[in-house]
Amino acid sequence: MAALFPRWSNTAARASLLALALLVVGVPLGLMAFVRSSNASARYEPVKQPIPFDHQIHAGRLGISCVYCHATVMRSPTAGIPPTQTCVPCHSTVWINSRELAPVRRSMQTGKPITWNRVDRLPGFVYFDHSVHVNKGVGCESCHGRVDKMSTVYQAKPLTMGWCLSCHRMPAGQLRPVEAVTVMGYTPPVAQARLGPELAAKYHVRSLTSCTTCHR
Ligand code: HEC
Ligand code: HEC
Ligand code: HEC
Ligand code: HEC
Ligand code: HEC
Repeated sequence: MAALFPRWSNTAARASLLALALLVVGVPLGLMAFVRSSNASARYEPVKQPIPFDHQIHAGRLGISCVYCHATVMRSPTAGIPPTQTCVPCHSTVWINSRELAPVRRSMQTGKPITWNRVDRLPGFVYFDHSVHVNKGVGCESCHGRVDKMSTVYQAKPLTMGWCLSCHRMPAGQLRPVEAVTVMGYTPPVAQARLGPELAAKYHVRSLTSCTTCHR
């Protein structure tokens, strides 16, 4: 008797079963990966700003401290974006008539703040606090990278939950003296394996991993 189905249909059946299995497993896995990469995908992407403000010039070459412009970083949850007045002491003499600085002049005349666009952003359901981190010895560099080398500042780290937790589980490896939190290109004066635990004890640093630390 002739076979009801040609011989290749077995192969086809196996192939379609495999394809189905891949779909069933793959689609949710892909979606899970997608939601988890929401922040990771914004990583490295340049953000368009009203003024081509250059950290490489200001924080790098001119060596202006981060805190001069991000004035609330040591004492509040947010670091703060500088108001136009912060630019004026220098730019009433430097580059005063340049096209790049037109928005600064306009903002001073109208009193309307410059509308900077955000670079790093966590979802609304995540609680974050700058002052706690920097006062316990976590440097800007650990979370924002070498800002002093960025002409246009970009999101340097994934900012995912897994990334936060990888430090929260063992923070000692990334602690530095509080005086050095704004230093870029920091290297520990002695082995980090010795310094880290010392600083953790000095600043009473705990390992905070319970969900309510960041989801309140
Ligand atoms: C402590 C002094 C100081 C402060 C504060 C300062 N700047 Fe500057 N800025 C300079 C100097 C000096 C230069 C010129 C650097 C050069 O040309 O080598 C400059 C250059 C610039 C340029 C031109 C850069 C280029 O080459 O494209 C822009 C735009 C600018 N600053 C914007 C700002 C803004 C916006 C602020 C406020 C948020 C600000 N600056 C605050 C000192 C300062
Ligand atoms: C002269 C002022 C000035 C100095 C000094 C400065 N910044 Fe900024 N920073 C700004 C301005 C203006 C913006 C908003 C425009 C932009 O994103 O480039 C900004 C943006 C940022 C952002 C992105 C914020 C966001 O939207 O998520 C980070 C991160 C940052 N700065 C870190 C630093 C660090 C770290 C230092 C020190 C190494 C530093 N800044 C020094 C003025 C300054
Ligand atoms: C432990 C990681 C961490 C450290 C350390 C840290 N930041 Fe941030 N920073 C973040 C995250 C995460 C955001 C986004 C916060 C949000 O969306 O609520 C952010 C946002 C910012 C912003 C923009 C919004 C704001 O808060 O005003 C600036 C500017 C900034 N950081 C500057 C700094 C500077 C300067 C330092 C060092 C003195 C620093 N950060 C240290 C993680 C960090
Ligand atoms: C490089 C290390 C490091 C990274 C990365 C980091 N943290 Fe932290 N975090 C710490 C340390 C250290 C403390 C202080 C622990 C203590 O208070 O003993 C802390 C404390 C906190 C606290 C407690 C604040 C309070 O009110 O006491 C929150 C909330 C927090 N972190 C959120 C985050 C979030 C969200 C991220 C990721 C976007 C993050 N952290 C990334 C090191 C880090
Ligand atoms: C150190 C801070 C921190 C802690 C502790 C933490 N989370 Fe998160 N969580 C985050 C951040 C940051 C995000 C946003 C991640 C993103 O957008 O990629 C997040 C996202 C989430 C999401 C959204 C889905 C996702 O995967 O993006 C859920 C659900 C969640 N957390 C549950 C928990 C639970 C349950 C715990 C306790 C076991 C916990 N978190 C502990 C920081 C934290």
